[in-house]
Amino acid sequence: MKIAMVGSGYVGLVSGACFADFGHEVVCIDKDQSKIDRLRDGIMPIYEPGLDALVESNVKAGRLSFTTDLAEGIAGAAAVFIAVGTPSRRGDGHADLSYVYAVAREVGESLDHDAVVVTKSTVPVGTGDEVERIIADTGCSHRVSVVSNPEFLREGAAIGDFKRPDRIVIGAEDDFGREVMREVYRPLFLNESPILFTGRRTSELIKYAANAFLATKITFINEMADLCEKVGADVQDVSRGIGMDGRIGAKFLHAGPGYGGSCFPKDTLALLKTAEDAGSPTRIVEAVVKVNDSRKRAMGRKVIDALGGVDAARGKTVALLGLTFKPNTDDMRDSPAIAIAQALVDNGVAVTAYDPEGMELARPLMPEVTMCDSAYAALEGADAAAIVTEWDAFRALDFGRMKRLMNAPVLVDLRNIYRPDDVRAAGFEYASIGRS
Ligand code: UDX
Repeated sequence: MKIAMVGSGYVGLVSGACFADFGHEVVCIDKDQSKIDRLRDGIMPIYEPGLDALVESNVKAGRLSFTTDLAEGIAGAAAVFIAVGTPSRRGDGHADLSYVYAVAREVGESLDHDAVVVTKSTVPVGTGDEVERIIADTGCSHRVSVVSNPEFLREGAAIGDFKRPDRIVIGAEDDFGREVMREVYRPLFLNESPILFTGRRTSELIKYAANAFLATKITFINEMADLCEKVGADVQDVSRGIGMDGRIGAKFLHAGPGYGGSCFPKDTLALLKTAEDAGSPTRIVEAVVKVNDSRKRAMGRKVIDALGGVDAARGKTVALLGLTFKPNTDDMRDSPAIAIAQALVDNGVAVTAYDPEGMELARPLMPEVTMCDSAYAALEGADAAAIVTEWDAFRALDFGRMKRLMNAPVLVDLRNIYRPDDVRAAGFEYASIGRS
């Protein structure tokens, strides 16, 4: 089966490469000529473990190709996926759908056969209806079924998530759409991945509801962590204790500096707008967004407290270990590190930093931070170290070396990757999240 993937960003590229690996013939399309040229040379535009090898082997096998020419790319494709960006619109938080609609128009103008058009981008409820209308308005005379098929890929684990999904959600309004999508995902049915067919609007909402629920779960445990610190309880045991209840589930209960990334912040805001416009406000999600925003800056204050408070902190230096919003990505979008560094700088604290993959993207976002070539270079002369992202590289720090390099042995572990007793036994003052 031939599949066209319009948009060769994170989602489009991972999905396209995985579909090709299933045996489909896939063409990834993007307007950005230099991106397409680099992809043809085997250079990935994003950091994702395993993606370069997957792309390379499928290009070699003749199943995966790249083009900037949409009409050529979609020729003969049974399914045309739209996987372009839907950033938050400046000012009002609504998802910006201009790229999705522009692709829909171009697809409608170029199609020369019956096809299913699939929105994979995260789009507000009702977008599929609009895509359908736009395609009809182009005068396209072929049978087109517009389907919603949201992605649930985690950065850093995207290929595994794609190939072994918890579920596949398909929102279709007719049999043609359902049949083609069944064919697209046939290799996964064979793996017995559950597939849920719903209406199109329902499928669009499932994506937002899933991300908002996960954001709520994280924010809930983060508030419990604050409470644990006040009452002398241990948040990790609270997580275990509630997570063993099958109704709650053990995942996404790891307390930390607040969620970031390209999805949760954007999708929760977009859901709020959808709900507001529909006259059905989601107050829980509203609270989650507010609590998470203020948490990121509060983490800066936590580091300042470890330095002895605002007055003592002025003129001191803090080393941030990890800058990306989570490990195994170079993504800095809405990373808590940005707010933490800003809070420190605002209080007269000098900041050094090291991240295994994120420095290039971090540099313009945090111009006042001194970027260093290694964790130990960042720690030299620091009055405190703060672990912001739980990269494996920080899980076995050499405490002896740290003590020799640092001005004072103070460690703030915002990801709870160490045991308090171990760090204190090594002679450090230690603060973490929701534990004493
Ligand atoms: C997320 C969803 O998981 C995915 O299904 C969706 O398609 C896109 O958004 P991603 O943004 O890649 O994926 O990251 P994820 O691993 O879900 O983490 C999001 C944020 O939550 C990170 O900042 C992470 O550090 C934080 N987090 C996650 C916690 O603080 N605690 C947890 O227990 C889990």
